[in-house]
Amino acid sequence: MSENIVVLGCQWGDEGKGKVVDRLAENVELVIRFQGGANAGHTVRIGDETFILHLLPSGILREGVECLLGGGVVVDPWILCEEFDTLAARSIDAESRCNISGSAHLVMPYHKRLEELRELGLNRKSIGTTGRGIGPAYEDKMARMGVRVCDLTRPDDALRRLIIEKTLRANRLLAERHEAAPLASEALADEIVGFAHRLRPRIVSSFAFLEDVREGRKRTLLEGAQGTLLDVDLGTFPYVTSSSCAIGGAMTGTGLSPKHLGKIVGVFKAYCTRVGNGPFPSELHGDGAEELRKRGKEFGATTGRPRRCGWFDAVAARYAAEVNGLDEIVMTKLDVLSGMEKIDVAVAYEIDGERREMFTNWTEELGRAQAIYEQHDGWDADLSKLENFKDFPAETRAYVRRIEELVRVPIRVVCTGPGRDRWVERSAG
Ligand code: GDP
Ligand code: IMO
Ligand code: MG
Repeated sequence: MSENIVVLGCQWGDEGKGKVVDRLAENVELVIRFQGGANAGHTVRIGDETFILHLLPSGILREGVECLLGGGVVVDPWILCEEFDTLAARSIDAESRCNISGSAHLVMPYHKRLEELRELGLNRKSIGTTGRGIGPAYEDKMARMGVRVCDLTRPDDALRRLIIEKTLRANRLLAERHEAAPLASEALADEIVGFAHRLRPRIVSSFAFLEDVREGRKRTLLEGAQGTLLDVDLGTFPYVTSSSCAIGGAMTGTGLSPKHLGKIVGVFKAYCTRVGNGPFPSELHGDGAEELRKRGKEFGATTGRPRRCGWFDAVAARYAAEVNGLDEIVMTKLDVLSGMEKIDVAVAYEIDGERREMFTNWTEELGRAQAIYEQHDGWDADLSKLENFKDFPAETRAYVRRIEELVRVPIRVVCTGPGRDRWVERSAG
């Protein structure tokens, strides 16, 4: 049986994947990001130090662990090199351990510009994106117009010509669709050639690079970004990101097969958050939302935006568990619920007067869903001081057991703080 692990966000992102990947990377040799781009913000806390990673896999903080940006990722070279430099300034050599699949696409400044103009457009209800150019970069990929990382290995002259051609095309779109000013194509081409010189030694053919993984010689972890409810196919379209954040993306974004996977781990917060627009049936408003936001420090790691907060949604969670075929769950931020008198869990929706226990990603319909709650007693104990699940308050254990029952997947670990060591594996109880 393969020991390779996939870690997937199973809500609307920000479930604590960074922390979980950092912890599990202790036992692997390679960590791969397989989709998304610098829209991700994965936080890892090690001792007193906090790292927020946007493009680099969270495993990079483990000495000796190699990383790969898989073909499904969209790479912003400005942000990638800045991340290398920031880590280098903190005495972490990320660059020499980070490999980049030649099949990954580049995010260009015109993607960000197009996104900005579109989000500002009056005719469309905005998605509330992270502004990192992700949508337009994936559009170019699907339209077979994008620039790939392997293009950076072309001779400088050919690369310059390619970038100028692509920028002129984007300039026409900017003018025709938005009456916007053009970008300077020659200057952009020079910058990209500069990045090519720096990044060429890091570019790999992922098929060749992953041979050891396919042969079972390299223990590997696949790190998802965003979450299943933001998946372009499975999420609450159009209020989603433009990539496949669920299990399918782990395959297309690496070129590995389901046969190479050992375990599929889903990460859930003990409650729910969402950044950006779109339906959120168990959302809290007013003081309730404010309290969760304050306790959980729920502000975006990429944009700093306050996250929308609500109760755990077991209907959506079971959907994510099933479409991904989860083997087990890590539940983060259980400590955040300490001190709340009552804790609700959404166990069904009411849509147009009808009780529904099956999730729907028909967004209009989900927008009309009223969550039906089951209420649980809260607890007061400071969970971050407890090492064994059996010592947790009875109410906490009942809450975890009930969610496990509703979602139908075992919760193997609960996290009780941002640090690496706030990780409680469950035995019986
Ligand atoms: P990601 O995008 O899924 O990696 O999650 P983010 O890093 O965007 O957001 C999760 C936040 O919760 C980060 O600030 C983490 O440091 C923090 N965090 C992770 N696990 C826990 C936990 O168990 N308890 C608490 N209190 N914070 C946690
Ligand atoms: P991590 O990996 C939470 C959301 C945005 C917006 C929608 C589309 O840290 O969990 P995009 O910029 O991707 O086109 O925005 O998706 N979004 C995230 N929300 N966590 C993320 O990443 C997100 N990445 C994108 O807020 O609603
Ligand atoms: Mg995040």
